[in-house]
Amino acid sequence: MSLLRGLPGTRATGGEDRPPAQDVGAPAPDLAALRRRLLDSLELDQVAQLSGPQRRARLERVAGQLLSRDGPLLSSQERAAAVRRVVDEALGLGPLEPLLADDTVTEIMVNGPDELWVEREGRLERLEAGFTDAEQLATTIDRIVSRVNRRVDESSPMVDARLPGGERVNVILPPLALNGPALTIRRFPTPYTLPQLVDRGSLDQPLADLLAGIVRARCNIVVSGGTGTGKTTFLNALSGLLPADERIITIEDAAELSLQQPHVVSLEARPPNVEGRGAVDIRDLVRNSLRMRPDRIIVGEVRGREALDMLQAMGTGHQGSLVTVHANSTEDAVLRLETLASMTELDIAFEALREQVNAAVDVVVHLARGADGSRRVAEVAAVASRRREPFRLTVIGEFASEPLGSDRIVRGRFRHHALPGQLAERLRLAGQTVPAPFAAAPGAGAAPGAGAAAAGAVPAAAAGAAGTAATRGGPHWQAS
Ligand SMILES: Nc1ncnc2c1ncn2[C@@H]1O[C@H](COP(=O)(O)OP(=O)(O)OP(=O)(O)O)[C@@H](O)[C@H]1O
Ligand SMILES: [Mg+2]
Repeated sequence: MSLLRGLPGTRATGGEDRPPAQDVGAPAPDLAALRRRLLDSLELDQVAQLSGPQRRARLERVAGQLLSRDGPLLSSQERAAAVRRVVDEALGLGPLEPLLADDTVTEIMVNGPDELWVEREGRLERLEAGFTDAEQLATTIDRIVSRVNRRVDESSPMVDARLPGGERVNVILPPLALNGPALTIRRFPTPYTLPQLVDRGSLDQPLADLLAGIVRARCNIVVSGGTGTGKTTFLNALSGLLPADERIITIEDAAELSLQQPHVVSLEARPPNVEGRGAVDIRDLVRNSLRMRPDRIIVGEVRGREALDMLQAMGTGHQGSLVTVHANSTEDAVLRLETLASMTELDIAFEALREQVNAAVDVVVHLARGADGSRRVAEVAAVASRRREPFRLTVIGEFASEPLGSDRIVRGRFRHHALPGQLAERLRLAGQTVPAPFAAAPGAGAAPGAGAAAAGAVPAAAAGAAGTAATRGGPHWQAS
């Protein structure tokens, strides 16, 4: 958005602001007046030509000069804070600007003008700062939403948008939101590589080595987990293992993946426009991608009508695909894919859908967020059932946590189990070695099932999950 479009709004709404209480220092500078003078003294046409960082530097310099000339005597710290705040407000997103510049912040939540929360390292924190008033919050929301050509008002009080940096934004207005407009900003996920996730303790080296072999052997992998457990991040890390000579097509609702390979086509779904037309959903993109000669298809999240198309593609000729699905456990992930697929074609028998899932999914990696906010692999399981058999998963890796101590830090270790024979054979045929912890002991035959391996160990990271590695029950399940 050009500065020219942005500034008049600020001027109109910011005119009557009182200096905010949190700008301490006596006497407090009149920030609203300073912002007015700052905007008056700039050649807006020229400023609009500058790049983002240049524009900020220019505004900071002018605001600093104005403050030195006309403002109260301030310590250098107070002065820097006042300049930053005025420039933040003039340039765009007010108190959100410093938070967006702070790499440790993963999520920003605004609950009305006075309440600002952030998530750092998986934990929520309430901040002292807030918006100057409801007007400033309204202006900020308008700026965000108008960038994506959307509208948010009483007739459409909920909207999803994106910031230029890729951050996902959701806005919901009163009267649906009772304590004022609520704004939720998800920072662009850090593109951790798999080795970096190992360093962070999200998985261990043997599991990373195994997954690398599984990806190279063109197995289909489903990454599952609840909201914000790191599915997209993990998918991105897995995509880093893909060979450079393949044509990769990524399909997402909001583009978050950042692949480093040379041959990538990224597709992004489109919501309907203001008149409710022009929507292109993930299913349309999946179908289109099949006509684009993909070597691998990566789907950010399977959550609707695309499930059946995706399963069919994975089971027939598009091996090596990677998808995520929202689920509570590895077994829930396959059940969920089956349910989603059944919603696409109501008259397909469940056994036929089960066959699709059994043919399509080779390995499920389930992620979970621990009580301390840490995100890690809770379980890796191979789909051992074939054709129309009831689903049967074999756990090949899992995180076994110790009981939570008073510091509420999650500790534990990753356990490894022998690969099922079929998967081990597939790796071998693809020229991939099976890392030692996953190799079956000589003469041991098939891999041990989950039951023996995980008895008594309930990963705390998966607290709340509907089922653990130890038991498989219910009509869809058959103990391995
Ligand atoms: N292993 C990890 N260690 C530390 N931070 C992580 C890890 N995985 C993800 N994160 C951070 O957690 C946040 C959520 O991650 P991500 O977007 O990948 O989750 P998600 O499960 O895809 O979320 P959603 O359900 O909204 O799609 C991001 O800020 C990301 O950088
Ligand atoms: Mg995601």
